[in-house]
Amino acid sequence: MITTKHLHELKQRNEKITVLTAYDASFTKHIEKAGVEVILVGDSLGMVLQGHDSTLPVTVDDMVYHTSMVARAREHALLITDLPYHSYLNKNQALENASRLINEAGADMVKLEGGGEVVSIAEYLIKNGIPVCGHLGLLPQSVNELGGYKVQGREQAAADKIFNDARALVDVGVEMIVLECIPQLLAKRISSEVDVITIGIGAGIDCSGQVLVLYDLLGITPGKRPKFSKDFLAELGTGKSMAAAIDAYVKAVKNLEFPTEAHSFN
Ligand code: KIV
Repeated sequence: MITTKHLHELKQRNEKITVLTAYDASFTKHIEKAGVEVILVGDSLGMVLQGHDSTLPVTVDDMVYHTSMVARAREHALLITDLPYHSYLNKNQALENASRLINEAGADMVKLEGGGEVVSIAEYLIKNGIPVCGHLGLLPQSVNELGGYKVQGREQAAADKIFNDARALVDVGVEMIVLECIPQLLAKRISSEVDVITIGIGAGIDCSGQVLVLYDLLGITPGKRPKFSKDFLAELGTGKSMAAAIDAYVKAVKNLEFPTEAHSFN
């Protein structure tokens, strides 16, 4: 079973970590076969599975349901599940919901979005034996406050806040942080100066690893694809399998061929 210790070792020897989202058992089996180290049951399922225009309507019950399916098919990968919107407003609520995701559904770790006031929630979960992954930069659960899905941390003050939030999360015991849609140089600074495993999505090549939404990688999601993602299946050409596309993603991340400048922000 992949542990955070193993992921730290990969970071130490400069081997990139691969992460993909999954929401069901069949896709999980394909992802496992490709050797992906971390599976994320993301609340992106609200958009790519449920048809909502944000992740806000996703419930804890939804996350338990999908995590259970993934957990049944998981063999080796570390399994992280999102605490959905408004499910960690205070410490007791966070612990109750995180415990469900771990004990009832089978996740290894929960992910929550934000710094600031979320740091004390993360600390409380960790003190109660629940491993926590952070998520900084573009926070989809705060899309209304952010005024849309926009790159974060371009101004110095905003960049410093994200950097300090990363430090604060690590100080309370967070070992992994997803960095979403931030300038490549900021992600590089966090990845090199903070002792944490950084997983980037729209954060450049210098993170410890990369994550993509599986449905984007396979070109399933209709409409315009975000700049930071890549349809690996389309890239392979007609007649290629989903499994080949997932393999291509793993190879591209490991060989530093993804993400390129074209998938990153300044
Ligand atoms: O919900 C999700 O899938 C995520 C990834 C985009 C990182 O949080």
